[in-house]
Amino acid sequence: MKKANIWLIGLAVMWANLARNIAKNWYKTIVYNRTESVTKQFVSDFWNENLIWSYDLKQFVDSIETPRKIIIMVKAWNPVDAVIENLLPLLEKDDIIIDCWNSYYKDTQKRYEQLKQKSIRFVWCGVSGWEEWALNWPSIMPGWDRESYEQIRDILHAISANDFSWKKCETYIWENWAWHYIKMVHNGIEYAIMQMIAEWYDSLRKLYKLNPKEISEIFKKYNDWKLNSYLIEITYKVLAKKDSFDENKYLIDYILDKAWAKWTGKWTSIEWFDRAESVSTIWEATFARDISEKKQLREKLSNIYNTANTSSELIELQEYLKILENTLYIWMIFAYAQWYALIKETAQNENWHINLSEISRIWQWGCIIRAKLLEFLTDVFKSNTDFEHIFELTDIKNEIQNWLNDYKKHIKQNMLNEISSLSLSAWLNYFYAITQKQSSANLIQWLRDYFWAHTYERTDKQWTFHTEW
Ligand code: 6PG
Repeated sequence: MKKANIWLIGLAVMWANLARNIAKNWYKTIVYNRTESVTKQFVSDFWNENLIWSYDLKQFVDSIETPRKIIIMVKAWNPVDAVIENLLPLLEKDDIIIDCWNSYYKDTQKRYEQLKQKSIRFVWCGVSGWEEWALNWPSIMPGWDRESYEQIRDILHAISANDFSWKKCETYIWENWAWHYIKMVHNGIEYAIMQMIAEWYDSLRKLYKLNPKEISEIFKKYNDWKLNSYLIEITYKVLAKKDSFDENKYLIDYILDKAWAKWTGKWTSIEWFDRAESVSTIWEATFARDISEKKQLREKLSNIYNTANTSSELIELQEYLKILENTLYIWMIFAYAQWYALIKETAQNENWHINLSEISRIWQWGCIIRAKLLEFLTDVFKSNTDFEHIFELTDIKNEIQNWLNDYKKHIKQNMLNEISSLSLSAWLNYFYAITQKQSSANLIQWLRDYFWAHTYERTDKQWTFHTEW
């Protein structure tokens, strides 16, 4: 019997689809899940000649070609370590464990080192996509050592999506934790874009009193052109969905307004502090989910302050919709600018020679943040490799200048009418802060020097000074 090419551990829906994707690309695949009934169900639903299943980790250890390639798709933290521990006695030198979950890159660093001491290879591989795309065309971001990657490259390549030019959305970008870090930022981007869309939805709902179906139609139109993206597309789809218990209403109106989060948004936000590079749009999006969790407190404070979402001095709806489309576009560019600035800063500190154009390309299709706009950014970064900040680039500057006034009108209207715009206004604040020749930090520095002799620099002399009071 032909030996299996790869072994997958974990069969939650997304991962079951990934296993099917590998098998349908003619790789003989062993699947295992620690709950036997999950494996049984999977086999009864999806059996094909390239799938082998196992109810016991030890059962197929000899029926897979060596070096063994084992994808583990279990939740971050302890489960990853537990699976590795169970596998270790079964493995031999140079076998490769591939973690495809959103683990923390610092945990992966530790795992990599520990396994290296035991002569086992460890690869972290980002997989982005929704259920259906995991089955057909996910976007794939493999990291860690190149030699191990080369051994799994063909499989990853075969199962990945195609970009707008029909090139594969899978590439090795740099050694070690580079891709892992960038995939974490990718998830931060996902948080930010969703928050932005939710804030727009909120304005249309509360200020213009549009119903979910009407808002869905607007997003549907936006999705036809430059805003085309996965998250805009699913926004129009979910908003139009009627409730199955109450067919007179839309499901959105029955969903509790508390957003959950795992860790990737927070991890990206922490990087902001470590790298001194603002990702305020992500930070605010993460924070917005935390605030949403405080439902009772929000209700109590809303009664105290009577925040009523007025509709005063409203821009006429048709004009507003045009503004929305443009601001949505410029916001995405702005937001990508922040994220790329973080990636660039980290790359510089860590001496990674990564290609921003290639990162944009990989994200064009197959992943949650796929967007038409990434085609534009792929070209922008292809023709501009030597720059300090993305705002310096003429193409980006032109977009900002075209739409900045619309952006301001939108924020002004929201503030006036008591609609929270955490993520949207964060960007505008960042823009003004980073493009201001004179900041107010001279006062901060003077105050610090006053109360604790922290010293300050002068604009006209070298060295640092302290002023005795
Ligand atoms: C992807 C997604 C995926 C997921 C995250 C975020 O690339 O396919 O980013 O990884 O959506 O798990 O989840 P939370 O919103 O729960 O943090």
